[in-house]
Amino acid sequence: MPLELVVARSLNNVIGNNGDIPWKARGEQKLFKEITMNSALIMGRKTFESIGRPLPGRVTIIVTRNAQYHQPECTTASGLKEAINIANQYDKPVFVIGGGEIYSQALPIATGVHVTTIQCEVDGNIHFPIFPTDDFTLVKESFFQSNIDYLYQHYERRQQVEP
Ligand SMILES: NC(=O)c1ccc[n+]([C@@H]2O[C@H](COP(=O)([O-])OP(=O)(O)OC[C@H]3O[C@@H](n4cnc5c(N)ncnc54)[C@H](OP(=O)(O)O)[C@@H]3O)[C@@H](O)[C@H]2O)c1
Repeated sequence: MPLELVVARSLNNVIGNNGDIPWKARGEQKLFKEITMNSALIMGRKTFESIGRPLPGRVTIIVTRNAQYHQPECTTASGLKEAINIANQYDKPVFVIGGGEIYSQALPIATGVHVTTIQCEVDGNIHFPIFPTDDFTLVKESFFQSNIDYLYQHYERRQQVEP
């Protein structure tokens, strides 16, 4: 089943700082919304708490080790595999939307990555793994001018060539 990541990072690969995203690039949130609308979203507990609510029009699945953790209109999963199994029960695209811990676990099994690179360098304590690697090929890109410019790229995992 397809499993895609959606991430925004700075030029120096920062994705978060002290529980928040350390930039405001106008239009970038709209892009996130367009990509993820009507999908099932998998996110770490810390990312959920930084957003603070389920995102409208999308299924929210929160990954946590805390079996007592519940949030209204959300499903919790005890690990990434369980989250993927739950997400695949909906007839919707599935996206992993962070944060750092969950991206690291999901990237090795991701079939695609929507990455937006914000054209600035910022301080931060959470980073995206090294990307792209040779495992992925670029299928689409668009450059957006804004208060901070950003480059959107869609990568797909290369097909394995049979020996
Ligand atoms: N720029 C972007 O695109 C983007 C996107 C998303 C988030 N962010 C940023 O990233 C930061 C948050 O990332 P983060 O790495 O600190 O946290 P995170 O990945 O959002 O969440 C980490 C939490 O997920 C749960 N978890 C992780 N691995 C697990 C596993 N194998 N099994 C069960 N539960 C697991 C644990 O929850 P419990 O502690 O409850 O057990 C863990 O504390 C914030 O600054 C946020 O703003 C940026």
